[in-house]
Amino acid sequence: MKAVIPAAGLGTRLLPITKSQPKEMMPILNKPAIQYVVEEASYGGFDQILIITNRNKKVMEDHFDRNLELRELLTKKGEEEALKKLIKIEELADIYYLRQKEQKGLGDAVLCSEAYVGNEAFAVLLGDDIIISDIPAVKQLWEAHLKVKAPVIALEEVPEDHVERYGIVELGEEVEAGVFKITKIVEKPKKEDAPSRMAVMGRYILDHDIFTWLRSGKTGHGGELQLTDSLANYIDTKGLYGMPVKGLRVDIGSVGDWLKANLQVALLNPELKEKITRYLDELKAEGRL
Ligand code: G1P
Repeated sequence: MKAVIPAAGLGTRLLPITKSQPKEMMPILNKPAIQYVVEEASYGGFDQILIITNRNKKVMEDHFDRNLELRELLTKKGEEEALKKLIKIEELADIYYLRQKEQKGLGDAVLCSEAYVGNEAFAVLLGDDIIISDIPAVKQLWEAHLKVKAPVIALEEVPEDHVERYGIVELGEEVEAGVFKITKIVEKPKKEDAPSRMAVMGRYILDHDIFTWLRSGKTGHGGELQLTDSLANYIDTKGLYGMPVKGLRVDIGSVGDWLKANLQVALLNPELKEKITRYLDELKAEGRL
Protein backbone atom coordinates (compact mmCIF):
# COMPACT_ATOMS: atom_id res chain seq x y z
CA MET A 1 0.00 0.00 0.00
CA LYS A 2 1.12 3.53 -0.69
CA ALA A 3 1.84 6.32 1.75
CA VAL A 4 2.80 9.93 1.22
CA ILE A 5 4.95 11.77 3.74
CA PRO A 6 5.05 15.54 3.24
CA ALA A 7 8.37 16.68 4.68
CA ALA A 8 9.08 19.91 2.85
CA GLY A 9 8.55 22.42 5.66
CA LEU A 10 11.28 24.92 6.50
CA GLY A 11 11.36 24.42 10.26
CA THR A 12 11.99 28.10 10.93
CA ARG A 13 10.95 27.81 14.58
CA LEU A 14 13.95 25.55 15.17
CA LEU A 15 16.60 27.81 13.60
CA PRO A 16 19.61 27.78 13.58
CA ILE A 17 19.74 23.95 13.62
CA THR A 18 17.34 23.81 10.66
CA LYS A 19 19.45 26.18 8.55
CA SER A 20 21.32 23.29 6.96
CA GLN A 21 19.53 20.29 8.48
CA PRO A 22 15.92 19.33 7.80
CA LYS A 23 13.55 19.55 10.75
CA GLU A 24 12.58 15.91 10.11
CA MET A 25 16.19 14.87 10.86
CA MET A 26 16.03 16.30 14.39
CA PRO A 27 16.92 13.41 16.70
CA ILE A 28 14.49 11.98 19.19
CA LEU A 29 16.98 10.02 21.25
CA ASN A 30 19.21 8.41 18.62
CA LYS A 31 16.72 8.26 15.76
CA PRO A 32 15.78 11.10 13.43
CA ALA A 33 12.11 12.09 13.67
CA ILE A 34 11.39 10.98 10.10
CA GLN A 35 12.50 7.42 10.90
CA TYR A 36 9.69 7.06 13.45
CA VAL A 37 7.23 8.11 10.74
CA VAL A 38 8.66 5.80 8.05
CA GLU A 39 8.67 2.92 10.55
CA GLU A 40 5.04 3.61 11.43
CA ALA A 41 4.08 3.54 7.73
CA SER A 42 6.11 0.42 7.01
CA TYR A 43 4.99 -1.56 10.09
CA GLY A 44 1.43 -0.41 9.36
CA GLY A 45 1.53 -2.11 5.94
CA PHE A 46 2.42 0.93 3.82
CA ASP A 47 5.82 0.06 2.40
CA GLN A 48 5.60 2.06 -0.81
CA ILE A 49 6.43 5.54 0.38
CA LEU A 50 6.71 8.87 -1.38
CA ILE A 51 8.42 11.59 0.64
CA ILE A 52 7.77 15.13 -0.54
CA THR A 53 10.94 17.10 0.06
CA ASN A 54 12.68 20.28 -1.01
CA ARG A 55 16.21 21.15 -1.91
CA ASN A 56 17.46 21.15 1.69
CA LYS A 57 16.49 17.58 2.49
CA LYS A 58 19.23 15.53 0.81
CA VAL A 59 20.54 14.18 4.10
CA MET A 60 17.13 12.61 4.72
CA GLU A 61 17.50 10.63 1.49
CA ASP A 62 20.98 9.53 2.57
CA HIS A 63 19.60 8.28 5.87
CA PHE A 64 17.38 5.66 4.19
CA ASP A 65 19.86 4.85 1.43
CA ARG A 66 22.23 1.88 1.42
CA ASN A 67 25.61 2.75 2.95
CA LEU A 68 27.86 0.03 1.58
CA GLU A 69 31.03 1.48 3.10
CA LEU A 70 29.52 1.41 6.59
CA ARG A 71 28.11 -2.09 6.03
CA GLU A 72 31.58 -3.30 5.05
CA LEU A 73 33.25 -1.63 8.01
CA LEU A 74 30.76 -3.02 10.56
CA THR A 75 31.04 -6.49 8.98
CA LYS A 76 34.85 -6.39 9.24
CA LYS A 77 34.68 -5.26 12.86
CA GLY A 78 32.10 -7.96 13.67
CA GLU A 79 29.66 -5.37 15.04
CA GLU A 80 26.57 -7.40 14.30
CA GLU A 81 24.04 -5.46 16.35
CA ALA A 82 24.98 -2.17 14.68
CA LEU A 83 24.93 -3.85 11.28
CA LYS A 84 21.44 -5.23 11.90
CA LYS A 85 20.20 -1.77 12.86
CA LEU A 86 21.70 -0.30 9.71
CA ILE A 87 20.19 -2.91 7.40
CA LYS A 88 16.80 -2.53 9.10
CA ILE A 89 16.72 1.17 8.25
CA GLU A 90 17.87 0.59 4.69
CA GLU A 91 15.22 -2.06 4.05
CA LEU A 92 12.24 -0.44 5.76
CA ALA A 93 10.38 0.42 2.59
CA ASP A 94 10.63 1.37 -1.07
CA ILE A 95 11.09 5.09 -0.69
CA TYR A 96 10.71 7.60 -3.51
CA TYR A 97 11.33 11.31 -3.29
CA LEU A 98 9.73 14.23 -5.02
CA ARG A 99 10.64 17.87 -4.58
CA GLN A 100 7.96 20.44 -3.94
CA LYS A 101 9.14 23.36 -6.06
CA GLU A 102 7.71 26.15 -3.94
CA GLN A 103 6.47 26.29 -0.36
CA LYS A 104 2.79 26.61 -1.21
CA GLY A 105 1.35 24.69 1.71
CA LEU A 106 0.48 21.18 2.86
CA GLY A 107 -2.31 20.89 0.27
CA ASP A 108 0.16 21.63 -2.50
CA ALA A 109 2.64 19.09 -1.09
CA VAL A 110 -0.06 16.38 -1.14
CA LEU A 111 -1.10 17.44 -4.65
CA CYS A 112 2.48 16.65 -5.80
CA SER A 113 1.76 12.96 -5.07
CA GLU A 114 -1.19 12.61 -7.47
CA ALA A 115 0.63 10.69 -10.23
CA TYR A 116 2.33 8.44 -7.67
CA VAL A 117 -0.73 7.28 -5.75
CA GLY A 118 -3.03 6.54 -8.70
CA ASN A 119 -6.60 5.45 -7.94
CA GLU A 120 -6.17 3.47 -4.74
CA ALA A 121 -6.85 4.77 -1.22
CA PHE A 122 -3.59 5.97 0.32
CA ALA A 123 -2.19 7.22 3.60
CA VAL A 124 -0.71 10.62 4.40
CA LEU A 125 1.61 10.88 7.40
CA LEU A 126 3.00 14.29 8.27
CA GLY A 127 6.77 14.04 8.60
CA ASP A 128 7.00 16.12 11.76
CA ASP A 129 4.15 14.45 13.68
CA ILE A 130 5.33 11.42 15.62
CA ILE A 131 2.95 8.90 17.13
CA ILE A 132 4.39 6.08 19.20
CA SER A 133 2.05 3.14 19.65
CA ASP A 134 1.89 -0.64 19.72
CA ILE A 135 -0.41 -0.75 16.71
CA PRO A 136 0.88 1.83 14.21
CA ALA A 137 -1.54 4.79 14.18
CA VAL A 138 -1.86 4.59 10.40
CA LYS A 139 -2.90 0.93 10.70
CA GLN A 140 -5.57 1.87 13.26
CA LEU A 141 -6.92 4.36 10.71
CA TRP A 142 -6.73 1.86 7.86
CA GLU A 143 -8.79 -0.64 9.82
CA ALA A 144 -11.42 2.02 10.48
CA HIS A 145 -11.32 2.94 6.78
CA LEU A 146 -12.08 -0.67 5.82
CA LYS A 147 -15.20 -0.50 7.98
CA VAL A 148 -16.56 2.89 6.95
CA LYS A 149 -15.30 2.72 3.34
CA ALA A 150 -14.54 6.44 3.32
CA PRO A 151 -11.65 8.75 4.30
CA VAL A 152 -10.59 8.64 7.95
CA ILE A 153 -8.32 11.03 9.85
CA ALA A 154 -6.58 10.83 13.23
CA LEU A 155 -7.78 13.03 16.06
CA GLU A 156 -6.65 14.05 19.53
CA GLU A 157 -8.24 16.36 22.06
CA VAL A 158 -6.05 19.41 22.71
CA PRO A 159 -6.20 22.17 25.35
CA GLU A 160 -8.37 25.14 24.39
CA ASP A 161 -5.29 27.36 24.04
CA HIS A 162 -3.85 25.08 21.37
CA VAL A 163 -6.78 24.93 18.93
CA GLU A 164 -5.24 27.73 16.85
CA ARG A 165 -2.35 25.40 15.90
CA TYR A 166 -4.42 22.63 14.33
CA GLY A 167 -7.20 21.60 12.02
CA ILE A 168 -10.23 21.30 14.31
CA VAL A 169 -13.31 19.16 13.73
CA GLU A 170 -16.90 18.97 14.90
CA LEU A 171 -17.98 15.40 15.57
CA GLY A 172 -21.31 13.80 14.78
CA GLU A 173 -22.46 10.27 15.55
CA GLU A 174 -20.16 7.40 16.47
CA VAL A 175 -20.57 4.98 13.56
CA GLU A 176 -18.18 2.24 14.76
CA ALA A 177 -16.45 1.87 18.13
CA GLY A 178 -14.21 4.95 18.38
CA VAL A 179 -14.95 6.15 14.82
CA PHE A 180 -17.00 9.33 14.42
CA LYS A 181 -18.63 11.09 11.51
CA ILE A 182 -17.10 14.54 11.03
CA THR A 183 -19.64 17.28 10.44
CA LYS A 184 -17.27 20.25 10.16
CA ILE A 185 -13.53 20.86 9.77
CA VAL A 186 -11.64 24.16 9.94
CA GLU A 187 -7.94 24.94 9.71
CA LYS A 188 -6.41 26.71 12.71
CA PRO A 189 -9.53 28.50 13.99
CA LYS A 190 -9.43 31.19 16.66
CA LYS A 191 -10.29 29.88 20.11
CA GLU A 192 -13.70 31.55 20.01
CA ASP A 193 -14.55 30.10 16.56
CA ALA A 194 -13.35 26.54 17.17
CA PRO A 195 -16.16 23.96 16.83
CA SER A 196 -14.49 21.76 19.50
CA ARG A 197 -11.10 20.85 20.93
CA MET A 198 -10.71 17.76 18.71
CA ALA A 199 -7.64 18.34 16.58
CA VAL A 200 -6.37 16.70 13.38
CA MET A 201 -3.20 14.78 14.13
CA GLY A 202 -1.24 14.46 10.90
CA ARG A 203 -2.47 11.01 9.80
CA TYR A 204 -5.00 10.63 7.00
CA ILE A 205 -6.45 7.84 4.83
CA LEU A 206 -7.63 9.52 1.66
CA ASP A 207 -8.59 8.68 -1.88
CA HIS A 208 -8.24 10.15 -5.33
CA ASP A 209 -11.07 12.72 -4.93
CA ILE A 210 -8.82 14.88 -2.80
CA PHE A 211 -6.70 15.80 -5.84
CA THR A 212 -9.67 17.22 -7.74
CA TRP A 213 -10.44 19.55 -4.84
CA LEU A 214 -6.79 20.42 -4.23
CA ARG A 215 -6.30 21.29 -7.91
CA SER A 216 -9.21 23.72 -7.90
CA GLY A 217 -8.68 24.83 -4.31
CA LYS A 218 -8.15 28.39 -3.20
CA THR A 219 -5.43 29.44 -0.81
CA GLY A 220 -6.60 29.35 2.79
CA HIS A 221 -5.08 29.91 6.21
CA GLY A 222 -1.69 31.67 6.02
CA GLY A 223 -2.09 32.25 2.26
CA GLU A 224 -1.29 28.58 1.61
CA LEU A 225 -3.17 25.74 -0.08
CA GLN A 226 -4.53 23.86 2.93
CA LEU A 227 -5.28 20.14 2.93
CA THR A 228 -7.98 20.78 5.55
CA ASP A 229 -10.03 22.99 3.18
CA SER A 230 -10.15 20.24 0.56
CA LEU A 231 -10.98 17.59 3.18
CA ALA A 232 -14.14 19.55 3.97
CA ASN A 233 -15.55 18.49 0.57
CA TYR A 234 -15.73 14.87 1.71
CA ILE A 235 -18.29 15.85 4.36
CA ASP A 236 -20.94 16.60 1.72
CA THR A 237 -20.00 13.70 -0.56
CA LYS A 238 -18.84 10.27 0.63
CA GLY A 239 -18.35 11.35 4.23
CA LEU A 240 -15.30 12.07 6.38
CA TYR A 241 -14.60 10.15 9.58
CA GLY A 242 -12.35 10.82 12.55
CA MET A 243 -10.77 8.54 15.07
CA PRO A 244 -8.89 9.34 18.26
CA VAL A 245 -5.87 7.06 17.72
CA LYS A 246 -4.24 5.14 20.56
CA GLY A 247 -0.65 6.18 21.13
CA LEU A 248 1.69 8.84 22.40
CA ARG A 249 1.90 11.81 20.06
CA VAL A 250 5.01 13.94 20.34
CA ASP A 251 5.65 17.23 18.68
CA ILE A 252 8.93 18.75 17.49
CA GLY A 253 7.55 22.10 16.38
CA SER A 254 9.60 24.27 18.75
CA VAL A 255 12.72 23.84 20.89
CA GLY A 256 10.58 23.29 24.00
CA ASP A 257 8.41 20.71 22.20
CA TRP A 258 11.48 18.90 20.88
CA LEU A 259 13.06 18.74 24.33
CA LYS A 260 9.81 17.42 25.81
CA ALA A 261 9.51 14.87 22.97
CA ASN A 262 12.94 13.48 23.86
CA LEU A 263 11.96 13.16 27.50
CA GLN A 264 8.60 11.56 26.67
CA VAL A 265 10.24 8.92 24.47
CA ALA A 266 13.13 8.36 26.91
CA LEU A 267 10.65 7.70 29.71
CA LEU A 268 9.26 4.76 27.72
CA ASN A 269 12.63 3.04 28.14
CA PRO A 270 13.05 1.65 31.71
CA GLU A 271 16.84 2.10 31.72
CA LEU A 272 16.66 5.72 30.55
CA LYS A 273 13.72 6.39 32.86
CA GLU A 274 15.82 5.34 35.82
CA LYS A 275 18.72 7.54 34.71
CA ILE A 276 16.46 10.56 34.25
CA THR A 277 14.78 10.02 37.62
CA ARG A 278 18.15 9.72 39.34
CA TYR A 279 19.46 12.86 37.66
CA LEU A 280 16.34 14.84 38.59
CA ASP A 281 16.66 13.65 42.20
CA GLU A 282 20.28 14.84 42.22
CA LEU A 283 19.26 18.22 40.85
CA LYS A 284 16.53 18.53 43.49
CA ALA A 285 18.93 17.54 46.29
CA GLU A 286 21.36 20.22 45.09
CA GLY A 287 18.54 22.77 45.03
CA ARG A 288 18.93 23.32 41.26
CA LEU A 289 15.38 22.26 40.45
C1 G1P B 1 -0.91 20.60 9.71
C2 G1P B 1 -2.37 20.60 9.29
C3 G1P B 1 -3.28 20.71 10.52
C4 G1P B 1 -2.96 19.60 11.49
C5 G1P B 1 -1.47 19.65 11.88
C6 G1P B 1 -1.09 18.46 12.74
O1 G1P B 1 -0.58 21.87 10.21
O2 G1P B 1 -2.60 21.67 8.39
O3 G1P B 1 -4.63 20.63 10.11
O4 G1P B 1 -3.76 19.72 12.64
O5 G1P B 1 -0.65 19.61 10.70
O6 G1P B 1 0.22 18.56 13.17
P1 G1P B 1 0.96 22.34 10.38
O7 G1P B 1 1.43 21.76 11.67
O8 G1P B 1 1.71 21.79 9.20
O9 G1P B 1 0.91 23.83 10.40
